[in-house]
Amino acid sequence: MDEVTWEELKRAATEARTRAHAPYSRFAVGAALKARSGQVFVGCNVENASYGATICAERAALAAAVVAGERDFTALAIVSGARGPTPPCGICRQCLAELAPTLPIRSFAADQHAEYELSALLPHAFGTDQLD
Ligand code: THU
Repeated sequence: MDEVTWEELKRAATEARTRAHAPYSRFAVGAALKARSGQVFVGCNVENASYGATICAERAALAAAVVAGERDFTALAIVSGARGPTPPCGICRQCLAELAPTLPIRSFAADQHAEYELSALLPHAFGTDQLD
């Protein structure tokens, strides 16, 4: 994944983050998921008064992509306001692994970023192979 692409995704995730609905945690997150088609799908966290119903930015982006017909993904950028880069939560790892088990992920904080591959964040993922 080249630097131009990561910058493009960072910009899209930063913009999406401004639309987060996070009145409970005050922790706004934006995500941008690039499909192999070239299209970029964004998401933000959408919290709920029933806290457990909250949707993370990463899953919002994944759902937006899937409803647009995308199934093949090449990169995910995450932007939060934390001091350091924040990796995706466990539920998002599981959801992303369904369609993109080796997805390259870059998480951006103020002036630094971290890079992960989903297969390292979620080794031995439960998947369709276990359903018979
Ligand atoms: N959150 C995300 O949107 N993505 C992550 O990777 C970590 C957590 C959200 C969920 C909740 O709205 C807030 O951040 C605090 O956990």
